[in-house]
Amino acid sequence: MKEKILRALREHGDGFVSGAFLCSQFGVSRQAVWKNITALKENGYEIESVTNKGYRLLNSPSRLYAPDILSRLPEGCLCQKVECFDTLDSTNTKAKQLAEFGGPEGTLVIAETQTAGKGRRGRNWNSEPGVGIWMTLLLRPELPPVKVSGITLLSALALTKAIRELYGVQAEIKWPNDVILAKKKICGILTEMSSEENYVHYVVTGIGINANTASFPKEIEETATSIFLQTGKKIDRSELIADMIHIFCSYYEQFVKEQDLSAFVEEYNAVLANRDQEVCVYYGMVEQSSPENMDRGIARGIDRDGALLVEIDGRLKRIVSGEVSVRGVYGYV
Ligand code: BTN
Repeated sequence: MKEKILRALREHGDGFVSGAFLCSQFGVSRQAVWKNITALKENGYEIESVTNKGYRLLNSPSRLYAPDILSRLPEGCLCQKVECFDTLDSTNTKAKQLAEFGGPEGTLVIAETQTAGKGRRGRNWNSEPGVGIWMTLLLRPELPPVKVSGITLLSALALTKAIRELYGVQAEIKWPNDVILAKKKICGILTEMSSEENYVHYVVTGIGINANTASFPKEIEETATSIFLQTGKKIDRSELIADMIHIFCSYYEQFVKEQDLSAFVEEYNAVLANRDQEVCVYYGMVEQSSPENMDRGIARGIDRDGALLVEIDGRLKRIVSGEVSVRGVYGYV
């Protein structure tokens, strides 16, 4: 009900929505509407109520709130369940627990902060409270396990599109897991799955977005940035979450139906950082690289299975994501 009321209030913008309209629209009593409006106010929503006019939404809190995010998703979206927490160890770990207990596909787990946020390759993920977006989507794709990495690529693509549309900045993808702005990382993606040889039980796609972060720890300040730092504007995290999830879900459904990324290759390659530029491919930890475990070539884009095609000595080599890092010749991008 709160989600429906928020949707109706937002749809009316600056205008009032009458109590009678809300009652007839949702088939509930005036008292039920009033109770839900009171609950929304208690959660920080500033709602004006004027006799004979109705209700008007004046302000929303910055704290993430499940009914708010649901109210921004279109009806029929794969994501029908959102769970918001103040603190979790890791949204990926929570999503995996929910999956083990039969949680439905499309469940979105969000935390204001993580005490043990996980990055790729066992690294920690810095999850400062209140400023970032730390979330994980639970999926149950009918895909062979080898194709699951496509979900990471589509998450990056959906976020890149959402950021470009909402803020008019040139977000790009650093294949396969990162979204960047001005050559610095604003998002990392960690996809984990539970599978048998040829069957996927579930997938959790964890997405960490530096949304309103104002500064970074010394160790990462050279390579990390935030949408706020790049646009100069504090962003509405709920809006970005809903936009990205909406785009992702439609991409995901098409991907599962078609079983490959053909439909997305062109769009992906158009926003691929380093396309047609020289890159280094490290087969192992970048920090421990040697000439024997790296290649140098020109990145030409992804193929329909999500592999990066790198031209080395005139021949295209397929680089498959996994324990591989691709960097620019002079640094992170
Ligand atoms: C990386 O770039 O190394 C991947 C980072 C992934 C971070 C996100 S934050 C939400 C989700 N929960 C986690 O513990 N990790 C992912």
